Amino acid sequence: LKVLVIGAGGQVGAKVARLAHRKGHSVVGTYRSRAVEESGIETLLLDKTDRARVEEVLQQHRPQVVIDTGALHNVDYCESHPEEAMAVNRDGTRWVAAASQRAGARFVMISTDYVFDGLRTGPYSETDAPGPASVYARSKLEGEQAAISENPDTVVARPSVIYSWVPLASPTGSASGKPLNFASWFLRQLLEGKEVRIVTDQIASPTLADDLARALLALAESSVTGVFHAAGATPLSRYDFCRRLGERLGFPSEHIVPIDSAALRQAAPRPPNSSLSSEKLRRAVGYSMQEIGLALDEMQRSMVEDPGLPAPLRDVLLAGGARPEGPSSRAAMF
Ligand SMILES: NC(=O)c1ccc[n+]([C@@H]2O[C@H](COP(=O)([O-])OP(=O)(O)OC[C@H]3O[C@@H](n4cnc5c(N)ncnc54)[C@H](OP(=O)(O)O)[C@@H]3O)[C@@H](O)[C@H]2O)c1
Repeated sequence: LKVLVIGAGGQVGAKVARLAHRKGHSVVGTYRSRAVEESGIETLLLDKTDRARVEEVLQQHRPQVVIDTGALHNVDYCESHPEEAMAVNRDGTRWVAAASQRAGARFVMISTDYVFDGLRTGPYSETDAPGPASVYARSKLEGEQAAISENPDTVVARPSVIYSWVPLASPTGSASGKPLNFASWFLRQLLEGKEVRIVTDQIASPTLADDLARALLALAESSVTGVFHAAGATPLSRYDFCRRLGERLGFPSEHIVPIDSAALRQAAPRPPNSSLSSEKLRRAVGYSMQEIGLALDEMQRSMVEDPGLPAPLRDVLLAGGARPEGPSSRAAMF
């Protein structure tokens, strides 16, 4: 297949572009500010809010599948920048879906678990009614709806808290000022000996980016359309997720302090429960999202295999125990 990946320098985009290339697909990756570092992948500059440029790129390259990972997803930033959030997450997604349709391409987009209000008990399925509580969530939901109306050959994949190993020193903060991903941010705090305050009252389905990339390609290679949840198989609070991650990598848990969301005074409301069932994905394309244990095994492997892994982190991983210098307080920004 000829695959165009939008946001190929981002956390998920980089994984999906690399995997597609390794599977033998011909890959073109776009970036806006962070260049794509992957050999064998043709790269080009694209801002999805530039409607004319989107059209030009799609007509020039005529991919068979477009996988759109591009978004403004700093939830608090979106709350105070609603026009920018809507321009990227709703309108930009519409331009890409419409241009894909005109170019004869299938459109695969990433949405979010935050489309739900979070008041349900237990994991949400695709038949549950959305109830977005923040600007970010509304912009993503309206992006889903715009894409489906513009291109009948659209698949929407909804993940939840995406994490993966990314080198801590690299400038991986997103365009909207969000530093690293949740897990890498958390690890950096622990490595610096900081006390990390993590909420116990936000439950999600933490999703390893590598696992999501495989699910996205399975969806891209299939002919299914519509909305699919593609999230980690184990619902966990942010606090429990951090405990599992810290324990797995050999950090003592006393530096992880449980707090309530109210203590963070986050600008945008978060759903208390945004865990997702990915059963429909399994039935439709035969791909099962990972349980947390397997996902953490995979993340740990990618850390050990990274030649650029900082020596202190390698020591912790190999020794199975950390020796932080003493806590200083830091609250979770996510
Ligand atoms: N991270 C999470 O916890 C999470 C949870 C649920 C859903 N999601 C969704 O998952 C998707 C991928 O997230 P991620 O973790 O991979 O984020 P990321 O690492 O921040 O990557 C986002 C990508 O979007 C690109 N982008 C931003 N604005 C753009 C624009 N106007 N035009 C074109 N590209 C643009 C960025 O490009 P540059 O960096 O080059 O500017 C970057 O490559 C997003 O759709 C997000 O809404 C994320």
